[in-house]
Amino acid sequence: MCGIVGYLGKSSAANILINGLKRMEYRGYDSAGMAVLNDGIIKTTKKKGKVSELERLVDLSKENSTIGIAHTRWATHGFPNDINAHPHSDQANKITIVHNGIIENYTAIKKKLTLDGYQFKSETDTEVLAVFIGALYERFGDLEYAVRFALSEVDGTFGMLVLSADHPDMLIAARRGSPLLIGIGDDEFVAASDAAAVIQYTKQVIYLNDNEIAIITRDGYHTKTISNEDTISKIEQIEFDLEQIEKGGFEHFMLKEIFEQPETIQNAFRGRLLVDEGDVKLGGLRQIQEQLRSAERIIITACGTSWHAGLVGEYMIEHLANIPVEVEYASEFRYRNPVIKKNDIVLAISQSGETADTMAAVREAKQKGATVLGIVNVVGSSIARYTSAGVYTHAGPEIGVASTKAFTSQLTVLSLIAIMFGRMNTLSKYEGIKIAKELLNIPDKIKKIFESADKIQQIAKQHAKAKNFLYLGRGYNFPVALEGALKLKEISYIHAEGYPAAEMKHGPIALIDENMPVVFIATQDEIYEKIISNIEEVKARKGKIIAIATEGDTRIESVADNVIYIPETLPMLTPILSVIPFQLLAYYTALELDCDIDKPRNLAKSVTVE
Ligand code: AGP
Ligand code: GLU
Repeated sequence: MCGIVGYLGKSSAANILINGLKRMEYRGYDSAGMAVLNDGIIKTTKKKGKVSELERLVDLSKENSTIGIAHTRWATHGFPNDINAHPHSDQANKITIVHNGIIENYTAIKKKLTLDGYQFKSETDTEVLAVFIGALYERFGDLEYAVRFALSEVDGTFGMLVLSADHPDMLIAARRGSPLLIGIGDDEFVAASDAAAVIQYTKQVIYLNDNEIAIITRDGYHTKTISNEDTISKIEQIEFDLEQIEKGGFEHFMLKEIFEQPETIQNAFRGRLLVDEGDVKLGGLRQIQEQLRSAERIIITACGTSWHAGLVGEYMIEHLANIPVEVEYASEFRYRNPVIKKNDIVLAISQSGETADTMAAVREAKQKGATVLGIVNVVGSSIARYTSAGVYTHAGPEIGVASTKAFTSQLTVLSLIAIMFGRMNTLSKYEGIKIAKELLNIPDKIKKIFESADKIQQIAKQHAKAKNFLYLGRGYNFPVALEGALKLKEISYIHAEGYPAAEMKHGPIALIDENMPVVFIATQDEIYEKIISNIEEVKARKGKIIAIATEGDTRIESVADNVIYIPETLPMLTPILSVIPFQLLAYYTALELDCDIDKPRNLAKSVTVE
């Protein structure tokens, strides 16, 4: 969600800042802005709308400042407009800041500053912080002290950068709750909330911890806590390449990411399957083997698509390991005093590793003494760093706001975790071998589904004018129905609902008429006959039926209007295949409707506010 970037070095800051903002556009935002420092004067340009509109206001050929900060805003306090856009300055325009997050006690601070005669131009919480830092700087004459003092007084979350007219060779970065990393190049530094803004300049980074600040100067950097204790930051390496965050010939990132799945799934299981032993090897969980063996219950917590993956994980783990699993929305988990016992394992799933609700649930679970694991995609992200142990999904950067490859990688890792718990408990070696062998076949089976892409596009065209869709599935495919509906909603803005197929007759059936497309997952498994009955019920009410069926199933053609075939696999692995047509269906529907597929309205890639 939104992003900040700052530069201090030898090159033109404005160029690098605009470029950094573009790299972070996928995170979702409503306004953009930038401030650079030249001859003791801070020049701020900001605008509601796209980064390209901001860029039009800046003459990059004339910009030669070598220090600056920039921001994409996702409004939390105050409308998205030019005035509320960041950067925000103190009253004397000596200090300017960019900020991700929320200053929760801004009203109280604003009131006090107003009584002291300070005035405000915007409605944002961020401006209050800028004016507060400015007031403290006026009083103490020490910028670092003013920043630390202000930050020790504020409640809430921040990833922020400070630029000061009196300090042409210094940037201050600070973080609590919102991500922030600092790229360390040759005599230059690029600080940003996302590695995507940094990778073009350097792969060496430090990740700031919560309540840490970095004082960056032309000679180097120094990190300390907000309460002034020195800290040591490990330099880490960004693991992906520039080309991975470019479209590579595809019209949209989402399509590229859909088509990457045979490879990303392979990356999720590579080196982790012990096929001959019917087991897995998960390096990230090695140090907590004892806790895993004595697990009596697993609580999976996540949001959105990751939560859907969690539901599939529940079925997998209960099926293979006979351990009770509960799946909780992270946002609910935190606020309802959950019961957590000594031998419970909490498993947080997150693509970004920065989702505020999931992070809060992780904190809550840790506080209550649980062993907390993560299934995370972004290396070095907050959840990855804060959990006790975990497994990376290695899907590479996911830029499309609608999650696709991250989901199938999460399912793959969950199947590995299910095998692991299974082999510790009730799963036979023979069954373990069967699943491990089948996982190896999944990438090729996905390639097979891609052969139906044109057909799926035709189906999408046929139904793109519908106002509502129903997605129905049972067993392992129920969470896939939820995911299919979410994908369609997110990028095509068509209302869609996912339901367990058998629940349809308890309510949603009232909606069915000749204008309602109903998408069924009707793969051939033990509940196939039941699904066929559900399809007949829809047909009897003139609903339009789109079925995802197992290759070779000809019977389905007599009941469904459109059939998309997927190869046969084990029931527990079916969701990895059955979701692919749904991703494509949503994509082509949004394409038909001319929607902004990679950056759908109102959405942010990672939701870093609660
Ligand atoms: C998925 O398409 C969504 N954009 C959203 O539901 C997402 O899955 C959710 O916000 C969780 O994000 P995370 O996996 O990064 O924690
Ligand atoms: N709370 C701040 C605002 O509304 C920052 C939002 C953001 O993270 O972009 O301006």
